[in-house]
Amino acid sequence: MLRATLEKLKASKDMLICQQNVSSEYELGAILKHFNNKTPILFNSVDGAKKRAIGGLYGDRNIIYNLMGIDKETRIDKFISALVNPRDYKIVNDGPVRENIVKHNIDLKRFFPIPKFNEKDSARYITAGVLVVKDKEKNNYYTSIRRFQYLGGNKLSVLIASKKLMNDFLKMEKQNESMEVAIVLGYDAEFLLSSQYSTDLYGVDKYRIDSALRGEPLELVKCETVDLLVPAYCEIVLEGKIISGKREPEGPFGELMGYYGIEKPQPVIEINSIMYRNDPIFQIAFPCREEHVSNGLIREIELYTNLNKIVDVSDVYVTEGGGYRFNAVASIKKHNDGDGKSAIISGLGYNSELKQIVIVDDDVNIYDPQEIEWAITTRAQASNDFVIIKSALGSALEPSHTISGTSDKVGIDATKPITGDIERFERTKIPGYDKIDINKYFPTI
Ligand SMILES: Cc1cc2nc3c(=O)[nH]c(=O)nc-3n(C[C@H](O)[C@H](O)[C@H](O)COP(=O)(O)O)c2cc1C
Repeated sequence: MLRATLEKLKASKDMLICQQNVSSEYELGAILKHFNNKTPILFNSVDGAKKRAIGGLYGDRNIIYNLMGIDKETRIDKFISALVNPRDYKIVNDGPVRENIVKHNIDLKRFFPIPKFNEKDSARYITAGVLVVKDKEKNNYYTSIRRFQYLGGNKLSVLIASKKLMNDFLKMEKQNESMEVAIVLGYDAEFLLSSQYSTDLYGVDKYRIDSALRGEPLELVKCETVDLLVPAYCEIVLEGKIISGKREPEGPFGELMGYYGIEKPQPVIEINSIMYRNDPIFQIAFPCREEHVSNGLIREIELYTNLNKIVDVSDVYVTEGGGYRFNAVASIKKHNDGDGKSAIISGLGYNSELKQIVIVDDDVNIYDPQEIEWAITTRAQASNDFVIIKSALGSALEPSHTISGTSDKVGIDATKPITGDIERFERTKIPGYDKIDINKYFPTI
């Protein structure tokens, strides 16, 4: 879990350590933002105390690949295989997370450095917490990251945007029942990634996906006050219930795309027990981009699968600039002149939030915005290759959608033709360029 991850990051020199005391109000978030939320930073002293926090952990896809022992070529197979071949987890009697157990006088802020990020945020927020719930009929565990607004003492509110979880809670609420939950902090990349598989779409036990991703059973211990299992080696577990019949105002909050989400009533969680390791490390994700990389990585398997039904797809990228959900680029091996347009149709249909997709040939590096711009400029003509669909479904996470409550979609076919005057598309080439040993010419570099 997290401690093993820190060892790996130290060894690969991918982590910074901050010994200076920092405030959890604005200062900590400002430092993470300075590094674009891409550099893992361990803060050894927060709020004038010995409280420790880690942020920026999973904001760089290459760091995630290294931690999981995968690369960009193997990732999609690995992620699909974990979904198709989930593995059993293992229940153990004890684990480090049970080193400290508190059941009375819980004031979360006293224990943990819960940060405030942006000027107009309504409160301090837990942003990296993974919510654990159990479908008791199927005996399936579902994990997902949700944001938790700190309401003081042992109370949090929770923003639930997914259909299944909200419907399950509303059903229980009708029977006056509260929903048992646990919030897990201080985890590794496998745990994070497994939480991002869509419950609505697959309904697969996320602990079993996690076990498949890590190649061995995830070790779980029982909670103290709720009937749930949680990772034995994580840093912190908050146990409680989403309370039936209760709502509190939530927001404004600086969201994914760098705008404030507006205040709305949201369900309330009461925490009844906390467990944590000695000298716990509180996990933080700056609420703009960082951990959405993980969400994008899982969305990419859905986009890949959708495209693969229709065309010969090489790779897909749900881009950073589009918050890892609104924009995508896909490279294809073109076999027919209709491939580009058909790829647009199936790409735009893969997720209701996607706004823009660019289809390129597989000689284009889809991770380099300059190459994408070059492909659009030299291989597309707007009247023929830009496909626009007006007023479809979208997402309130970006403000232009809220003007009409709908989203326009655009697909750009930036592939070159495979029939006709194709010589005009021959790329310039210097023989031997790839093999040139530059050190030979500048030995002092
Ligand atoms: C950093 C981060 C923050 C997220 N915050 C929320 C949130 O506040 N509320 C929410 O409903 N989903 C949020 N999500 C998306 C869910 O975690 C994601 O939809 C879920 O893991 C997939 O499971 P589901 O199908 O149950 O939603 C967040 C994702 C990430 C990566």
